[in-house]
Amino acid sequence: MEECMARDLRKIQNVVLVCQGKDCKKNGAKDVLCGVKSALKDLGAHRETMIVKTKCTGQCKKAPVMGIQPHGVWLTEGTEKSAAATIHATIGERLKIVS
Ligand code: FES
Repeated sequence: MEECMARDLRKIQNVVLVCQGKDCKKNGAKDVLCGVKSALKDLGAHRETMIVKTKCTGQCKKAPVMGIQPHGVWLTEGTEKSAAATIHATIGERLKIVS
């Protein structure tokens, strides 16, 4: 049985939803995920952010799709670059306000 690494959920401030449905996968969901991970690492926000791979979010015509909660930010027709920029603009700005 695979051992699960426990995370302290009390430290999670952001949840990034990255659709892994068929159309999103076909249109670059993997690139979006790379952009998200890279930006979170750049910001040092990877420990306070949970990435959740979702099933289809019902926006297939605008695939690939990602969301950042609880900030209510959604990105459609995402790319690695636009995903990273959206993470910086949303989570990076929040970090500036807090610190
Ligand atoms: S497959 Fe991603 S929105 Fe439908």
